[in-house]
Amino acid sequence: MRTVITFGTFDVLHIGHINILRRAKAHGDRLIVGVSSDALNFSKKQRYPVYSEADRAEIISSLQFVDEVFIEESLELKGEYIKKFGADILIMGNDWEGRFDIFKELCEVEYLPRTEGISTTELIAEIKAREDNVAA
Ligand code: CTP
Repeated sequence: MRTVITFGTFDVLHIGHINILRRAKAHGDRLIVGVSSDALNFSKKQRYPVYSEADRAEIISSLQFVDEVFIEESLELKGEYIKKFGADILIMGNDWEGRFDIFKELCEVEYLPRTEGISTTELIAEIKAREDNVAA
């Protein structure tokens, strides 16, 4: 049994999220996803996600290629999560290239190309721009 672990906010689910989770699962038999907490997002980006951590976790756990979801409470605990879930490989999008190489002493680390042209931040901006157009 080969266990894959990945982490992310996964707010306002989009095709880039689906693509990375599907490709992550293809690297093993079991996919564990750490969904970052609302507090962790606030500390990183000074804004809360649109969807709550409970809803983001529920949405991600309902995907067919996701086996288990937990809330990632702290960036510093990644190594502990890798050990706790017995992960054989950590997968991240290549926007994080090199940033998690320290965990190579615990498991394999691989960065997958991001899906181009989409992100939660861009989606929120796009929705806002459309609202502004309607209002004008
Ligand atoms: N991801 C991806 N392709 C995209 C967007 C995200 O492969 N177009 C991957 C990221 O590399 C990460 C995971 O999906 O491994 C979760 O990313 P997240 O930060 O939640 O999504 P973003 O859309 O990048 O969110 P934001 O714009 O808020 O940074």
